[in-house]
Amino acid sequence: MNAAVDISGLTKAYAMDGETVHALRGIDLEVPEGDFVSIMGASGSGKSTLLNLLGCLDRPTAGRIVLGGEDVTTLDDDRRSEIRASRIGFVFQSYNLIPQLTVLENIEVPLYYQGQLDARGRQRSRELAEMVGLAERLKHRPTQLSGGQQQRVAIARSLVNDPRFILADEPTGNLDSATSEEILHLLLELNAQGKTIVMVTHEPDIGRLGKRIVRLHDGEVASDERLDTVEVRIQKSEVGSRRSDAEGHSDFPNP
Ligand SMILES: Nc1ncnc2c1ncn2[C@@H]1O[C@H](COP(=O)(O)OP(=O)(O)O)[C@@H](O)[C@H]1O
Ligand SMILES: [Mg+2]
Repeated sequence: MNAAVDISGLTKAYAMDGETVHALRGIDLEVPEGDFVSIMGASGSGKSTLLNLLGCLDRPTAGRIVLGGEDVTTLDDDRRSEIRASRIGFVFQSYNLIPQLTVLENIEVPLYYQGQLDARGRQRSRELAEMVGLAERLKHRPTQLSGGQQQRVAIARSLVNDPRFILADEPTGNLDSATSEEILHLLLELNAQGKTIVMVTHEPDIGRLGKRIVRLHDGEVASDERLDTVEVRIQKSEVGSRRSDAEGHSDFPNP
């Protein structure tokens, strides 16, 4: 089976006021299907740069990213947009919801851009809203929701095209610890269903819930550590103390 992600020699330099900022200095990383990688490291170590490159939102200075067997670094912009829309779900710290749209409409946005907002797509969006616990909030607008609820909308939106691969940049960065826990459990359940997840976080308690921690230091991989089974990870973590059955049990309908 192809790795979900195969990164080699990945380099990114930004030109800034005549100086060069070396954000990534040759990253090699393989992520098998179904993995859950927490990317950690100090501010400025290159975490967001790596995630943006993985998400085909930006191009590297050198090196290769192969997603599901396809080298995305050499593709043209149209094909990269297609891959972004169909294969990758994005979750950001700041939710990035559209304030004028309702919960349901926000979830439907990626379908709209794909020209796939038909009855089936609408139904799927409604099911995803239910799945993230927002069945009673379909007509609310983002400002009428808590931060945790907004992040649930963003997660439902990231799933509407049924991507195999989810990229999350500090998904709990704006949330209190109880709400962070809920969001993490959502991600754990998605991972248990087989989604590959790469999540940036600087919070150790959050990072430890992944299957693996990759630490960046100054644009390089400083360490790459496999963690325990999900049960043990949840037991050890403050964040996961309320539930311990994320892997064995799922509330979600299989997409
Ligand atoms: N668009 C940009 N232009 C110039 N420099 C940038 C840009 N984006 C990031 N950088 C620089 O690249 C380095 C890595 O940034 P980033 O990937 O955002 O780090 P992290 O997410 O780990 O905090 C930092 O030194 C940052 O200032
Ligand atoms: Mg960042």
